Amino acid sequence: MAVDTKSAMGVFSEENSQKREELIELLKKAYWMEIETVMSYIANTINPDGVRAREVVESLGKDIQEELGHAHQFGERIKELYGVVPGSMEFTAEQTYLQPPEHQTDIVHVIRGVIEAEDGAIEHYQRIIEFCDDFDLVTQDMVITIQRDEQGHKRLFEGFLREYEVEGKA
Ligand SMILES: [Fe+2]
Ligand SMILES: [Fe+2]
Repeated sequence: MAVDTKSAMGVFSEENSQKREELIELLKKAYWMEIETVMSYIANTINPDGVRAREVVESLGKDIQEELGHAHQFGERIKELYGVVPGSMEFTAEQTYLQPPEHQTDIVHVIRGVIEAEDGAIEHYQRIIEFCDDFDLVTQDMVITIQRDEQGHKRLFEGFLREYEVEGKA
């Protein structure tokens, strides 16, 4: 009788070792995205000037803690899959859109940058979720929960942007 080791072992089965390696790479990218987001969000909670920026900055400050938690979760999952969490020398920055604006009162620049970062995360996590289908439901479950957080962040900042758009300032 043939034993279905694939369904019995899933992500840890011998025949899935190649695919597990690919998943680890996707998780490493997610890990770096979270780390870079933390860097960008910290700078963008400190730099902005102006009364109206306060609300946005306060909200971004709360997100930093969540993004840091996400980075931890991705790192822990990499280890559980027998991968190694990369060292800082492997890091490459990508968030060109979240660099400090020319004028530090330009909070719309920050809002748009946050939306772009969240969009990028949502897109990459969607890829992981689909990659995990019938393969690693534990990672899939984790990433679905994280993706929901990013959707929440995006929605919040879209609300901020809407306010500026209504006033013709965005
Ligand atoms: Fe995140
Ligand atoms: Fe986020």
